[in-house]
Amino acid sequence: MRSISTRRKLVEEEGHRHSIKRGWRWKLHFENIPLLVRFFSFLLRTSFTKVIGMRNAMDVRLNEVHFAFSDLPAGFDNTRILLVTDLHIDGMDGLAEMIITTLGDVEYDFCILGGDYSFGCNDDHGLVCERMRTIAEFLGRKSRVFGVLGNHDKYKIGQLLNECGVEILLNETVCIEKGSDKIYIAGLDDNHYYGADDLELADKGITDGAFKIMVCHSPERYLEAADSGYSLYLSGHTHGGQVCLPGGVALVTSATVPRRLVKGRWTYQGMSGYTSRGVGTSGITVRYFCPPEMTVVTLRHGM
Ligand SMILES: [Fe+2]
Repeated sequence: MRSISTRRKLVEEEGHRHSIKRGWRWKLHFENIPLLVRFFSFLLRTSFTKVIGMRNAMDVRLNEVHFAFSDLPAGFDNTRILLVTDLHIDGMDGLAEMIITTLGDVEYDFCILGGDYSFGCNDDHGLVCERMRTIAEFLGRKSRVFGVLGNHDKYKIGQLLNECGVEILLNETVCIEKGSDKIYIAGLDDNHYYGADDLELADKGITDGAFKIMVCHSPERYLEAADSGYSLYLSGHTHGGQVCLPGGVALVTSATVPRRLVKGRWTYQGMSGYTSRGVGTSGITVRYFCPPEMTVVTLRHGM
């Protein structure tokens, strides 16, 4: 069996307690204070808002976005990339079935799984593996599927996905060819908690000036990716805030990035980006003013 990443394995063996991010400020994040999560859960249960929030969380949308690039090889014009991220698949019953139903006969050229397959951060992977196997096999019937790991994911989940045919890219790059045209997809390991990302390593082997796409669970590596000449950066992690005020104003973003990078499309120094709101939920299984999404990203040749 191929080892998906010796580096990730070593980082996990160091045995960090799960913490959204190291440093005192992040210790106050809600996911690092289980009592706070339980308190909010209790408050929600005592009102109607939990039922509404749970219904919102199952209202998975399929979004379409188009990006035009002058440097996209002509052979890749109209390439459709399905981005599915932050499934947290063991958090909500029926979500796996909802994903498969929503995707139905949607066509795409390849699929990217953006990480955070687990709801919790423990070693209980039984339900995650069972449900992810079903999803990975469904997605794999239509196209190649690439994936990265998120801050909720253990090595073992990456290994399982790899066995199901998902090409796990942890600081690795894959070249996709159409005739004589080529593009590259680089996948970074999680920077947010595990600190296992290595952009330089992922970048190795990419021809200078080639069209390249960065896939990283969190948008937090946008500065380095832009400096390294990536044209497109695809990510998730933030859930778009998950619990938002009317108008989609996030209460918590869970990422050290400018607010405009927390969800949807953005640009930074000539690099385009898309941060998905993700499919699942984290901490509490509710969403407000922030519907879950899967996204078809279409690449267009031209300005
Ligand atoms: Fe997530």
